[in-house]
Amino acid sequence: MSTPVRRVPGRLIAPEPGWTTAADVVVVGSGIAGLTAALRLRGQVEKILVVTKDVLAAGSTQWAQGGIAAALGPGDTPEEHEQDTLVAGAGACDREAVRVLVNEGPDAVRELIALGTNFDHDPDGELSLTREGGHHRDRIAHAGGDATGAEIQRALIAAIEQAPEIEVVQHALAVDLLLAEDGGVAGLTLHVMGEGQRDGVGAVHCRAVVLASGGLGQVFSQTTNPAVSTGDGMAVALRAGAVLRDLEFVQFHPTVMYLGPDSHGQQPLISEAVRGEGAFLVDFEGNRFMQGEHELADLAPRDVVAKAIMRRMIETGQQHMWLDARHLGREFWERRFPTILATARSHGVDPVTDLIPVAPACHYASGGVRTDLWGRSNVPGLYATGEVACSGVHGANRLASNSLLEGLVFSRRIADVLPGELRPLLPPAPDTRTPGLVPGGLRRELEEIMTTRVGVLRNATGLADATGLLDKLAGVTAEVVDQESWETTNLLTISTALADAATLREETRGSHWREDFPERDDVRFSGHFDVVMDDGTTTLELSS
Ligand code: SIN
Repeated sequence: MSTPVRRVPGRLIAPEPGWTTAADVVVVGSGIAGLTAALRLRGQVEKILVVTKDVLAAGSTQWAQGGIAAALGPGDTPEEHEQDTLVAGAGACDREAVRVLVNEGPDAVRELIALGTNFDHDPDGELSLTREGGHHRDRIAHAGGDATGAEIQRALIAAIEQAPEIEVVQHALAVDLLLAEDGGVAGLTLHVMGEGQRDGVGAVHCRAVVLASGGLGQVFSQTTNPAVSTGDGMAVALRAGAVLRDLEFVQFHPTVMYLGPDSHGQQPLISEAVRGEGAFLVDFEGNRFMQGEHELADLAPRDVVAKAIMRRMIETGQQHMWLDARHLGREFWERRFPTILATARSHGVDPVTDLIPVAPACHYASGGVRTDLWGRSNVPGLYATGEVACSGVHGANRLASNSLLEGLVFSRRIADVLPGELRPLLPPAPDTRTPGLVPGGLRRELEEIMTTRVGVLRNATGLADATGLLDKLAGVTAEVVDQESWETTNLLTISTALADAATLREETRGSHWREDFPERDDVRFSGHFDVVMDDGTTTLELSS
């Protein structure tokens, strides 16, 4: 297996730290994964600092619609949840990690309820559970109809506000890790905007870092991810020697509202739960094209639906397909999907009377920082949880509503082991990595390269073009050192590794769809592509 070698910055160019502080543990990110880790660590370690790039609620958790999956309903079992997760993951899941997820999931959700999260209930008082793609049972708990993430985020923020021992620093971008002589964590550099004495770049010396900084959706021009999802955590970890795994498995959500060819950035999600409640896909002639595609039809796993939509778009030369949910009726829409209803209406589409235009868009990174069953990366003192991590539960295609659960379960696990593994506070070793930075102005070009050549449908020619163009971008040096340049360099670093992994995986599996290799190839590709970096030089290896 050939291993591409590319040059991206070994560390980010940044001003020398103008301030210094210390903590036992720094948690980077403030969604379900980060806040759960911080809350569970409370009382076990003395000083916990939560840093977040924007405000506390700006990450992906807030936007989650469908809900959180767990075997909580009558007759459901963790084994059935495990089976659905493995099938969706297309042979690339870590079975042990999946078992942890489904077995610990129900208790983790009950804990979230005990914390004050108000999930929806049926008229008989039972937790209301719905179904999404790939699930054979109703097992998705939801809140506020389609505002599950917002409710979970609210409850977690309320708990954090009652925990004075957890210090929160908002508007703080993690620039790079500081490493000790042994290659383990000694701290990190942060850029903080407008925090009084802590303004600009500073150094936080600490004994462990928990990355919970979310995904990489902004690599693509259209994504359901918020603006903060620029792959920072993955890039920071990679530069520090952490292994990234399964980057090529980027999930494209099948039903993202299509807003026109020029629409860019975060796009409105139309939750799978809408199909779970009976909506179905049609083409421009009204054909229900998911029937006959899969035994679950419109509720097939996400990759199957996204591919069917793309195929129909290509065959008919259309930019999107349609979702028909008119028969659900006004009262049902208003009660069950108030957020989606309001958003669609704000774009001039009334789902009660109109078909909704939908097309696949980037939604979720199944890969990330490779971790063990306790959230540990290969770098001593560095843990990862949530979308930034690759715990092995998602394989080649995440099962719907398993992402909030993953963050919850593995953050609890990190908090179980981390206090017993705390490193001493060590001085950072001299940093010999080569600094670099690309201009923020390259970002649109980068997204365009990734969207047109490394998007939902891939082939060798497009991928070769993409890697060549990305290499050219890596040769441009920023004149201005600012957040836009740091984020763009992180996006470029992750894009390069992602495109390399997608090139090497000459098969179609889960969310990785190769036009030129349309079959799954278990003989050559049952393993995982691991990316490592040594001072800006990345290499990939296929490991089992
Ligand atoms: C959705 O509501 O369709 C998204 C849920 C998920 O990504 O798991």
